Order: sequence, then structure tokens, then C-alpha cells
Amino acid sequence: MTNMPYNEDQELDNNTSNNIHFRDILEQRISRRSLIAKTASGAVALALASSLSGCNDDNDSNNNNTTPPTVDPNQKPSTFNFKPVNKNLDDIVTVPEGYQANVLYALGDSINPAYPAWDDNNIPSGPSFQFRSGDCHDGMSFFGLNTSSGRYDPKQSENGLLVMNHEYINPTFLHPQGPTKPDGRRPEDEVIREMNAHGVSIIQLKKDKTSQAVALVQNSVFNRRITASTLMDFKGPVAGSTLVSTKFSSNGLQTRGTHNNCGNGYTPWGTYLTTEENFIGYFARSKEDDAKRKPEEIIALNRYGLKAGSNSRYGWETAIANTESQDLFDRWSANALATQSSEDYRNGPNTFGWIVEIDPFDRRENPVKRTALGRFAHEDCRASRLREDDNLAFYMGDDSRGEYIYKFVSDQKWSNKDINGGYTAGDKYMNNGKLYVAKFSNDGKGQWIELSYNVNGLNQSNSVYPFSSQADVLTFARLAADAVGATKMDRPEWVAVNPENGEVYVTLTNNSNRGTAHALDAANPRNYTDPEGGKGNVNGHIIRFREDGDTTTASTFTWDIYLFGAEAKMASNINLSGLNDNNDLSSPDGMWFDPRGVLWIQTDDGAYTDTTNCMMLAALPGQVGDGAKATTSSGQETIVGAQINDEKLRRFLTGPKECEITGVTMTPDYKAIFINVQHPGEDSASYAEPSSHWPASQTNPAAKSRSATVVITRKDGGVIVGETVQEKPKAS
Ligand code: FEO
Ligand code: CA
Ligand code: CA
Ligand code: CA
Repeated sequence: MTNMPYNEDQELDNNTSNNIHFRDILEQRISRRSLIAKTASGAVALALASSLSGCNDDNDSNNNNTTPPTVDPNQKPSTFNFKPVNKNLDDIVTVPEGYQANVLYALGDSINPAYPAWDDNNIPSGPSFQFRSGDCHDGMSFFGLNTSSGRYDPKQSENGLLVMNHEYINPTFLHPQGPTKPDGRRPEDEVIREMNAHGVSIIQLKKDKTSQAVALVQNSVFNRRITASTLMDFKGPVAGSTLVSTKFSSNGLQTRGTHNNCGNGYTPWGTYLTTEENFIGYFARSKEDDAKRKPEEIIALNRYGLKAGSNSRYGWETAIANTESQDLFDRWSANALATQSSEDYRNGPNTFGWIVEIDPFDRRENPVKRTALGRFAHEDCRASRLREDDNLAFYMGDDSRGEYIYKFVSDQKWSNKDINGGYTAGDKYMNNGKLYVAKFSNDGKGQWIELSYNVNGLNQSNSVYPFSSQADVLTFARLAADAVGATKMDRPEWVAVNPENGEVYVTLTNNSNRGTAHALDAANPRNYTDPEGGKGNVNGHIIRFREDGDTTTASTFTWDIYLFGAEAKMASNINLSGLNDNNDLSSPDGMWFDPRGVLWIQTDDGAYTDTTNCMMLAALPGQVGDGAKATTSSGQETIVGAQINDEKLRRFLTGPKECEITGVTMTPDYKAIFINVQHPGEDSASYAEPSSHWPASQTNPAAKSRSATVVITRKDGGVIVGETVQEKPKAS
């Protein structure tokens, strides 16, 4: 069986548009030696974190012998003084001294008392995963629960619903002996297990007010799974279009499931937004299919990465149904078989790649695919700062090399009356509005270019694609963005909005093609060689921008680069933010501003993993324009934010072996922070030989690797990173 675990190195790279940057720069071939000057100050300057002391490992006990200090939880710390966690390769979650990390929800954990606890050696049936945690936990949000009304309460910390994505699967540890494919067909039970291990979890949590201990409420009526088979509605301009007409829903109003849910978002009215990222890889398309397609269909399929002759990642389309309907498997084959699209699944891929709204408090209505926000490899979706005098906007990235940053601006201004408005509020703010794509200029300015039918040349005579409706523009948003000359970015992943000033931050995780296939520009200014052999923008960066006039409807913005990822030892024209051993990082990916204004940055890295496992850092950024012009090792001028010291950026956590740290949310009292450990042990050779034994390594050294949610609290029950805002200990 050659079904390999998915790895982001397999991420598609389909942007063949001629969009270039504002000047062509010859790639400068500079040797590794000239770039990586080792500095004399390679030594660790500050005190070591307690990562090796063993007193703060995961699975630690909840002993709370101290009294929580009095502190205004909403006050943003001015600096950090927790002890930074060291870079390390340990197979545990490491947190700063005084903090504790506990595993809350791991692959296969039961969310219904009728289903027994997980057992590595007795993997349960495929259908049972409708009542168990999915795999590869990713983006996540906490929603306070009013236990009387059963609705959203933004101030509630002791009761809440935690909603999270299960991006993909690590097939090695999902099946009793890893995945199989006898006679070229995937067994039905394995495919059902895989489809159910995708999607979203909604779980009810309880937090003890004194100890801050957090637990899953296993018998909650709110607990549920949304999977790759759950019924969903289309809303917005593409709903009812022939582009999403399938044999399942000939009128194009519904589809089944969501998958490859990566980053996330939440709405001000209390619903969850999940994103469909590398959805295209789940479909197969035959070599012969091009002959049955119109020229424009072939343009679109190629631009989204489903060329004729593409195999699917997991082979779901090969299963033969014994218990389920055969149609549930056939739909992963995107071939034109019948005379009309309403009689086959040629349009199956068009029914994915959307932002999906889920009301965690409402079990009756179907989740909604919000088509007005466009279709691409959606990574994250962040609402603008809430102001009743401004339109609501959502900022989004398309995570592939050389893809774009988008914003959707609602036609409606925000009203606080819509809090708890559920899908009705979603209809109000997310069905009608305008989609824009970003174009960055080298002078620190940028433009939002509208993607509307018949605007900016998006019509039948367009040379990139003959757009005939707004449904065309949105379903093939990448082609529309190509046509208007958007700026190709270094893999836009998560987006964060600074609650203090509305500035928008976007992680650009890395790009091996930068400086070669994708020319350098000021917004994507680095091409260098990594000590371990990578090239291009090896370590990634975080760009930020401020809308001109501080309004979401602005058509222009001002930008700089808040942070350049780098190894501390690298030359200053690569390590442009001045990172040191307490805060150096590579491949920023997950990112979130908590409501106080602390920025959390997480990594999904392959370039620094000889030295350290992936991590999360806490940051206190300044603002756009607080730095200066700089020139990178490639000779590219750029605009970098203020130099960063370790009082304003320091490592808060490291994960176990071969994992990514992703997903971050907190209870509104700031006393519990949740993170996900995705794909520990992803390079394991086989089921029998896990390369990570996390999360059970403390109790069972032979355990299999499992993705899991971790909750981190302070041993004294205090506010997370609130050490510098404490006033006085509470008298007990
Ligand atoms: Fe799923 Fe782009 O990370
Ligand atoms: Ca990601
Ligand atoms: Ca990533
Ligand atoms: Ca990953």
C-alpha cells in the first residue's frame, strides 16, 4: 500500500499566471557560506526554561497549592517575563515553569458514553468515528455557553463549546495495520473511518473555577461530529448555479461534507468558520476526461490542480459499498460520465474549497457553505475589528506557493444586536458583499482589487477565462485574481486582526520557489539557502497591513513585514527582525490575536526541525511603520517592522516529535489556553514503529502517535502570560 501520510510538501503549486511583481530581479545565486555568518553570540542568553525539569510536562497533575493572584484579566501585558521555553527535540509538550499542559481530546476519543474509550490495540469501526474525535486537529475556537438558554455567551469561561477542525488523516495509525488496498480497492470500513475522521468536532467543556482544570462533558447534547459526509447547504451567489449541480443535488443547493479543514475563524454573532484547504487532492480524474470537457472547464480544473489523469490522495473512489450507498464513494471521481452535470460528479470539486459556517449551538440546521467569500485553498478567515460604524470584513489566505490574500467586505455594517443571530446573521453578513484580492507595491502601499463580474475586465472577453457570471468569478476566484494582476505571495496561511488598531497580520509560511519561479518583490523579499539545504524563502515571514482611513471598505492599505522567521545564527540580512535563541522560529503558520492584544504564533516547520520541534510563541507587536527600510541578502529592498527583543516575543511552548502546533483559543477569562498537536510521529515507518509515542508516552512507552488538543493553565490558576500585570496576591 502506497498511501502515504499527507505532507504539506505535496501542496499543489498551480499558479502559472504571468502575474509578476513590480520589477524583475535576477535571481542572485549566493553561496550558503556567504549568507550564514555565525555570530559570536550564539549562546543562550537568558535563563533556561524548565523544559527538562519534568515538573511541567504534559499529563502533569493539577495540584494547585498557591492562590491565584489578583489581576485585571483584560489588561494586556506590557512585556513578558515567563521563562522562555528552550528549543528541543523532546517527545513531550513543554511549557514555561509554573504552567501545566494536559491532554484534553485525542484521535478516537469518545464523545458519547455509548462508545468506549480509545484503545491503540483495538481500533473501532469506521462508523463509530461519527462519535469519536477525528484526526489531525487544526484550527479551533472556544464559544462560551449559557447553560440555561443553550446559546452563546461571550463572557462565559466555565462552560463552553470547543469547536475544531480535523484537517486530514495519518492513515498509518488510523487503521489496525495501517491502510490497505487489496486488489486495488480500499476496503469500505477503512474509507468510512477516514471520511469520518475528517471534518469538525464540537465538544462541550467544563472548567473548574478554582483549579482551572478543564474536562470534556462526554454526555453533552452539544457534542457532535461533522464529517466528509455531513449534509451542507450552499448560500450566496453560487447557490443554485449549474457549476455546483451534481447527481446528489441537481439544483445545486446542497452537497455532502467538508474536508481538509485547516485554519478557522469565528463570527461576532457566535458561529464557527471552517476552511476547505487542499480539497482538490481528494478527487480522481481520468486521462480521458479532458476530451469530454469544454475548454473553459479544463482551464479551471488545471488552475485548481485537478489535471486529467490525477489520482486521489486516499483512493476513496475505489471502495465497493456493502453497507453504504455506492454513490458515497463514486462521488470522489470527478469524471464527466453522463450527458449532463446534474447526472454525474464532474462538478464534485466545485462543491469544495469554500468557507463553511457552523453554528455550534444549532443542531437542526445544516452547516452553510458561504460562496460569496470565493473558492480557493482556504486557510483561515478572520473578521475585522468590530465597529458599528464600519462594514464587517473577513480576511483570508489561499495557501499554496504563489497564491493570494483576499478580503470579503459585507454590504452591511455590523450591529451588536446580531450577537447570537446564528445562520440568519450569517445570511445577513456573508451572502451579500464584495470580494477583493490584494496587490502589494514595493513602496509599502497596496491595493484591493474588486473581483466582481463585469468589473476590472472580468467578463466573457477576459483572456484568462471567459467569466459569464458572478458565480463563475467566485467559483474560480484564483483565475479572477490572476486576471487582475494580484501579488503572488509566499503561501498565505493564517490571518490575525489586532483588536487595538484593526491591523491585519498574515503568516507567509515559506516558499521554495521564491527568487526562482516567483520573482522577489518587497513583500516577499527573501531567497537564501538553508544550512539543511532548503532554498527560497526558507523560514517564512509575517506581513501586516493597515487599511487606509481605518475602514474595511478602503481600496488601499499600507504594509510592512512584522517578523521574518530565521535561525538566530543567520546573518542579519536574513535574520532581519533580530531574533535570538529565546524567540527564533521557522515557518509561522497558525496565528491569533487574543482579545487583549497578545499575538500567538505557531509553527509548521521542516527547516529548523534538526534543532527543535515545532512551537508556539507569544508576541506583543507594535504597529505598521514602526521599523525602517532594509535590504535582504538577495539585494531586495523591503520594509521591516521594529527589531524584536525577547521581552516582546518569546517561546511559550514546544511540541512532541514530528508534530505541527496549530489551532489556538482561550477561555474569555484568559486562564486556559488550548492548542492542537497535529500529526506527531508523521514520519513513522509503519504502524508497528511509531516515531512518536505522544500523547501516552508518560504512561505507555509503546503507545501509537495521536493528534490531540492540549489545554494549558497556570499552576497558581492565574492569567496566561499575565505575570507582568499582577498586582497583589489575593488574601486567602
Ligand atoms: Fe493546512 Fe496550509 O496548512
Ligand atoms: Ca496551516
Ligand atoms: Ca503549514
Ligand atoms: Ca502540517
